[in-house]
Amino acid sequence: MSPKVVGILGGGQLGRMLAASASLLNIPVVVLDVGVDAPAKQIIASSSHIDGSFRDKKKIAELAKRVDVLTVEIEHVDVEALETVQESHPNVSIHPSPSTIRLIQDKFSQKEHLSSVGCPLGPFQAVDATPEAITQAAKELGLPLMLKSRTMAYDGRGNYLLRSLDSESIATAIKFLGSGSRKLYAEKWVPFVKELAVMVVRGLDETVASYPAVETIHRDNICHLVWAPFRLSDIDQDPALPTKAERVAREAVGKAFKGAGVFGVEMFLLNNGEILINEIAPRPHNSGHYTIEACESSQYDNHLRAILGLPLGSTRIKVGAAGMLNILGSSDGQSSKISESSSPSSSSFADDLLIDKLTHIALSTPGASPHLYGKAQSRKGRKMGHITIVGTSDAEVRERMAPLLSCLSEFEGDVQGDQASSPDPPHLLGYSHPHPVISIIMGSDSDLPVLLPAAQILTKHFPSIPFEVTLISAHRTPLRLVNFAKSAAGRGVKVIIAGAGGAAHLPGMVASLTGVPVVGVPVDSKSVSGSGGGLGGVDAMWSILQMPRGIPVATVAINNSTNAALLAVRIISAGKPQLVIQMEEYLRRLGEEVETKVDVMNRVGWAGYK
Ligand SMILES: *[C@@H]1O[C@H](CO)[C@@H](O)[C@H](O)[C@H]1NC(C)=O
Ligand SMILES: *[C@@H]1O[C@H](CO)[C@@H](O)[C@H](O)[C@H]1NC(C)=O
Ligand SMILES: *[C@@H]1O[C@H](CO)[C@@H](O)[C@H](O)[C@H]1NC(C)=O
Repeated sequence: MSPKVVGILGGGQLGRMLAASASLLNIPVVVLDVGVDAPAKQIIASSSHIDGSFRDKKKIAELAKRVDVLTVEIEHVDVEALETVQESHPNVSIHPSPSTIRLIQDKFSQKEHLSSVGCPLGPFQAVDATPEAITQAAKELGLPLMLKSRTMAYDGRGNYLLRSLDSESIATAIKFLGSGSRKLYAEKWVPFVKELAVMVVRGLDETVASYPAVETIHRDNICHLVWAPFRLSDIDQDPALPTKAERVAREAVGKAFKGAGVFGVEMFLLNNGEILINEIAPRPHNSGHYTIEACESSQYDNHLRAILGLPLGSTRIKVGAAGMLNILGSSDGQSSKISESSSPSSSSFADDLLIDKLTHIALSTPGASPHLYGKAQSRKGRKMGHITIVGTSDAEVRERMAPLLSCLSEFEGDVQGDQASSPDPPHLLGYSHPHPVISIIMGSDSDLPVLLPAAQILTKHFPSIPFEVTLISAHRTPLRLVNFAKSAAGRGVKVIIAGAGGAAHLPGMVASLTGVPVVGVPVDSKSVSGSGGGLGGVDAMWSILQMPRGIPVATVAINNSTNAALLAVRIISAGKPQLVIQMEEYLRRLGEEVETKVDVMNRVGWAGYK
């Protein structure tokens, strides 16, 4: 390895995780931050760390003397100091470049710049901190109006949502935003349906790669949860949306900014499928923490590789799904029951209790990795740690996340926690499991006795696979059919088992509307009056079997939903060794049953065997 020394401005959690990646490649790291035990300094022991502010010109110059490459974990650094370093130390490379940091620091300039290179943005304009100017902006952009401080605004600090134009509201807004001491701008309120983020990495050679799009859920303007990869939840959404979000993010970084490294691109998804850029951070980002456990190379690995001119690592997600929960301090008595009416020390004690509890739950949850940042003082909104959970499917990850989320809402004693877990949109209600991997559907409740064995065998032999059972009639509820089929993939369904009798259009119609594999069960519906019975199920069998070219449906024997379930498990077990083992276990038990029968037959003789 090249012995290049990396200097980081800022020693918080991002610096800490960057330092952890650096340690794997034995890259020397020097951190500039206040104190000797900033989170990043704790994990790379070095006598050369610098005690001082990352906004201090002298300290930045001192750091530059000791390193080959300078990077930042926070964009609120002294850009002039970096520009001076650029001139005085031509051999020190700075990533992201000072010009990029300057552009990004001022959110209004950032937006103007992004807009000038053709990135999709909502309407915005500069505004003075006066009632007249704000009223004028609200006339042009409408209410509610998002007022933002141009600089030093992050995690909700420096954002104010103005809902009314009465003088009191405006006065409160102006006061909140620094009473004119800071420059402001206004954004049209974007009625987004979801927030997305994409981590983008650019190498020294200008190659640009992106991580999968993820869904981010904010509370009080601070990232609360991340679900990866991003899933469509609405049937009207274009299946190419995640790919489009990744392209928008790559293009924005490629066209708008100079310098190597990782960029976090936050975006809004609108009702009509439009994607707008919210803002871009020129560094690893909270919404990319999940990449440590879930991707082939993490955002931290890739940030280092990029700024050191090493080959970039693969950004592919290597697990079925992942979730990330931020652990935030809450200790100002606002949202923590325990800390009401108590001194700061006992309220941060309440925080410690919560952090302890969450960590313990995570430690006994398969696929969960707790990260604690080693921050001494907890306070409201402060990022104290995070927990990443990986699993084979969305369903598994959400199930594993559930105890953490309920612990959190229990602790907070409010209802916000429940909303935080991203409730299913109304059109998805009415299914028996919110995040199934296998979906068992049938045209009529009279088919239930035939489909029941599928549910039973899954419950008995494959309890780790969540499934749902529901009714969908191709002829009587065609819209429900379309809705179901088009949302199936987005809900994490991997195989659909569809049982139908008579004309049996259900499996084929579902297969024509989704890319998810469909296993059809021909149902002998002779017992059902008026449904074309009497043909012994052969009618349904031919109907399901004889699908036109291009739309295959796997067809099992008449009434054999058991085999449909076993085939479904085999389909989802592809690439999942654990399920293959479970299937072989099942086969072994089948074999044992026959062996037992052989024994019995031997003992009692074939004539007496019954
Ligand atoms: C910069 O690098 C060049 C060649 O790599 C070297 O000759 C020169 O001395 C370096 N300058 C400083 C100020 O370190
Ligand atoms: C299929 O199942 C139904 C309902 O249990 C039954 O009435 C019918 O006889 C079965 N047909 C075959 C061929 O197994
Ligand atoms: C499954 O198929 C076999 C062979 O065709 C048949 O004998 C059996 O009755 C079927 N099982 C069910 C539950 O219908």
